Amino acid sequence: MSKPVSICVIGSGYVGLVASVCFAEIGHQVICVDNDEAKVETLRLGGVPIFERHLPELLARHHNRGVEFTTDLAGAVERSEAVFIAVGTPQGDTGAADLSYVEAVVSEIARAIKSYKVIVEKSTVPVYTNEWIRRVLERHGVGPASFDVVSNPEFLREGSAIMDFLHPDRIVVGANSERSADVLRSIYEPLTAGSYYVQPEALAGPCNALNPARLLVTSAQSAEIIKHASNAFLALKISFINAVARVAESVDADIEDIAAGMGLDSRIGPKFLRAGLGYGGSCFPKDVAAFHWVAQQEGVNFDLLHEVKKINETQKALFVDKVRSTLWTLRGKRIAALGLSFKGETDDIRDSPAIAVIRDMLEAGASVTAYDPAAMDRARYLLPLSSKMHYATNAYEAARGADAVLILTDWKEFAELDLDRLSDEVRFPIVIDGRNLYKPKTMLEYGFTYVSVGRPASYHEQERSALTA
Ligand code: UDX
Repeated sequence: MSKPVSICVIGSGYVGLVASVCFAEIGHQVICVDNDEAKVETLRLGGVPIFERHLPELLARHHNRGVEFTTDLAGAVERSEAVFIAVGTPQGDTGAADLSYVEAVVSEIARAIKSYKVIVEKSTVPVYTNEWIRRVLERHGVGPASFDVVSNPEFLREGSAIMDFLHPDRIVVGANSERSADVLRSIYEPLTAGSYYVQPEALAGPCNALNPARLLVTSAQSAEIIKHASNAFLALKISFINAVARVAESVDADIEDIAAGMGLDSRIGPKFLRAGLGYGGSCFPKDVAAFHWVAQQEGVNFDLLHEVKKINETQKALFVDKVRSTLWTLRGKRIAALGLSFKGETDDIRDSPAIAVIRDMLEAGASVTAYDPAAMDRARYLLPLSSKMHYATNAYEAARGADAVLILTDWKEFAELDLDRLSDEVRFPIVIDGRNLYKPKTMLEYGFTYVSVGRPASYHEQERSALTA
């Protein structure tokens, strides 16, 4: 194991907390800073504020050993060689990223710099933020020899963030000096030399000592754009397959077969070709808007990104139309909603398409009973319990007496339902699937009317005869 680096991570959200425990996991000494006293207290007492696989075990392993939690930013900066900024960069009204939290933290860091520091942008930021951080530090009187600013964007997917950090496809470092690039090289050396992967307790995954993580060093601007462009491209892929799904539907083709046929082309690949309700989460919507805004600021036409956003927005409206055209009227109907989080295996409901669809159902006068394995506590703030909005303890309870079951999030358990039991619970055997978790043939065998995305609807016996009567 290389020499441990003293690291300060500012921000204990999805990115900061995962980075903190993973830096400790690969042998570094970490101080994780947050200005939320309650959150820091929870972390100090061993609490796990977010739903991430492997986070509880790594927190338990490194809590108060490799990682300490504090609200004292100045003290943490003074004791560290590298300072990672991992605070939120939410979308502002114009689509631009709101960097006020970043600037506030940089001003605090400036006052604490007594020796050379590498300031690292971990948050997703628009190109040139690196420049701005340098300017703010110098405006606060920090001499240029006392710091370097480096971009080190994260590529963590919620639900697999720890694995994505320890077994990355690539590590990107944007540095404008060899000295700062070397600090980042030594921080990631356990992954790039592979020494982490031979540790007895190392998390197993695709990387290993013979196939270690790859680190790409480039300029700060290029690193900032790699992040935005990667997310925008993934979002483009999803909107593309959702637009193809509309064509498929109009000619009774099957989008799942189309995606499979496309994905076999090694230049396209099978991933991120799942048609459905579209993308949500705290990254894609924000990063597509931010990248579009940056292009506009630089006078570059990148309206393609505007189309990506538009397709994604209309995807939810098209799904609601499907529900209407299957149920005729929605007022007074009882809807079972399976899924609240923006994707399976996470409790995050930020920009969740499931929440948007449920809101539309309520507005149309339907009553909704929702179930989600992890996101119900968070969802209750946005969709409070009412005479029309209920929560169930499992999918079957949600389906009890339902006029239709909507599948809104791709949780694994929703793809493995006991269809006989589901059929016994519902008032009518109608499943409208926004995530294409089932084969139409299977649903027909179990007597369901099954409507999904980019595939012909299949009607159970009585329904078919009623429709063709
Ligand atoms: C994403 C990027 O993948 C990650 O690299 C970046 O660091 C943060 O943003 P995340 O938002 O956590 O990660 O989830 P991801 O798994 O990428 O899914 C994003 C959204 O796209 C989800 O709403 C998901 O349901 C949707 N999606 C994904 C599809 O609709 N179809 C697909 O084929 C894949």
